[in-house]
Amino acid sequence: MEKTAPDKAGAVGIFDSGYGGLTVLSGIKSILPDYDYIYLGDNARAPYGNRSFERVYEFTLEAVEWFFKQGCHLVILACNTASAKALRTIQQVNLPLIDSSRRVLGVIRPTAEYVGLLSKTKHIGIMGTEGTIQSKSYEIEIAKLHPEMTVTGEACPMWVPLVENREYNKPGADYFIKQHVENLLNKDPQIDTIILGCTHYPLLMDKIKRYLPENISVVSQGNIVADSLKDYLNRHPEIDAKCTKGGTTGYFTTDSPDKFNYQASIFLEEQIVAENATL
Ligand code: DGL
Repeated sequence: MEKTAPDKAGAVGIFDSGYGGLTVLSGIKSILPDYDYIYLGDNARAPYGNRSFERVYEFTLEAVEWFFKQGCHLVILACNTASAKALRTIQQVNLPLIDSSRRVLGVIRPTAEYVGLLSKTKHIGIMGTEGTIQSKSYEIEIAKLHPEMTVTGEACPMWVPLVENREYNKPGADYFIKQHVENLLNKDPQIDTIILGCTHYPLLMDKIKRYLPENISVVSQGNIVADSLKDYLNRHPEIDAKCTKGGTTGYFTTDSPDKFNYQASIFLEEQIVAENATL
């Protein structure tokens, strides 16, 4: 079977394991509203956060191939876990075999680039899923760009379920949020900047700030990834030319579209109509 659609221009693909990537999509659309986008949530197999490297790679590659079949030339893995566990292999091993002119980008590198501008103490905290923290991807990327920085991670396995189950605004959420914020600051009290290294966490921002001293800043990724994508498209006109500009967004899910439409309203302030995708 053909692995890619014919070589005409297509939408920009935005991938997440579930709903969290919608926070990145919002950031991208606010800065680049003229492009066409296709969002895919692999809701049937989410969460990815505690899955093995092999599974996350396998699922993410299937998603990338699905985007290529939809005509996308550029796919953003708007999922930290997929970026941490699958991006490098897809870029280095799969893309040359599938179609070396297509591009797959992640969210960790742009975040690592940006964070160098922020910290005065040079001590950074990362909050993410178990998969992202165990992969040490942030430590590795930040060390390449800012070797003077000390990076400390904290896995927060309950935070995604709190968001997915609409419990994040309720009092029970405070217990898990306080616990992980305190754990992180106990590991390194010099931290002055915290990266929310998971696409779901921006929804917890208010509660996270409640348990942080005021001098610590918290960074979420939507705008960072959007700025980085804009810069990338400026520097790569050949890829930009392969991205259609009609201002449309199509939503796809591997699970029930009705459930997706309902849950996505937590993340987006608009009604959407998703379609089912089979990977
Ligand atoms: N979207 C994922 C991330 O940014 C978190 C959700 C999941 O565990 O699948 O890491």
